[in-house]
Amino acid sequence: MDIIQFIKQQFEDNGHVAYGEDISMGEHMLQSAYYAEQKNSSDAIITAALLHDFGHLILELPEDITEKGIDGYHEDIGAKFLAPYFPKQIIDGIALHVQAKRYLCAVKPKYHGQLSQASKNTLTVQGGPMDAQEVIAFELEPFYKEALQVRLFDDLGKEAALTHPDVDYYLSIAKQFVGK
Ligand SMILES: [Fe+2]
Repeated sequence: MDIIQFIKQQFEDNGHVAYGEDISMGEHMLQSAYYAEQKNSSDAIITAALLHDFGHLILELPEDITEKGIDGYHEDIGAKFLAPYFPKQIIDGIALHVQAKRYLCAVKPKYHGQLSQASKNTLTVQGGPMDAQEVIAFELEPFYKEALQVRLFDDLGKEAALTHPDVDYYLSIAKQFVGK
């Protein structure tokens, strides 16, 4: 399978799915990649930011399923699907981006207040802030810093109106990592 073509198709077919913020899921993912590039991130981080909610695209589940108290574990689904095609640095950035929120809520007192309402709502379902042992375990993850960066861009990519390059542009960055 041409994974880049497949990802593009998912954006086209399912990108419109609601995100629980004012924008669609596809738009949120593109904005996350945009902010990663704006902040001079590596191509691997830009790719992870672009794909961090891929699990939502392939599931077609809106983020507000959490209003019903269900955690779709979208980060695991996306990471597992993409793992055969991308290096661990990118996969872990995707897989750990929810844990990164739980981590930041534990170690940065001001972080929770900066989260969007949807992110606050999902936090509860996702387990709330990490406890001290979970914080230690998270810092042992080899790519936890990558996940923290992805989280930052995830939190930024929620603008109602933002001009940015299209999915083809970001996929041209992602392409270099396929099979690496
Ligand atoms: Fe996200």
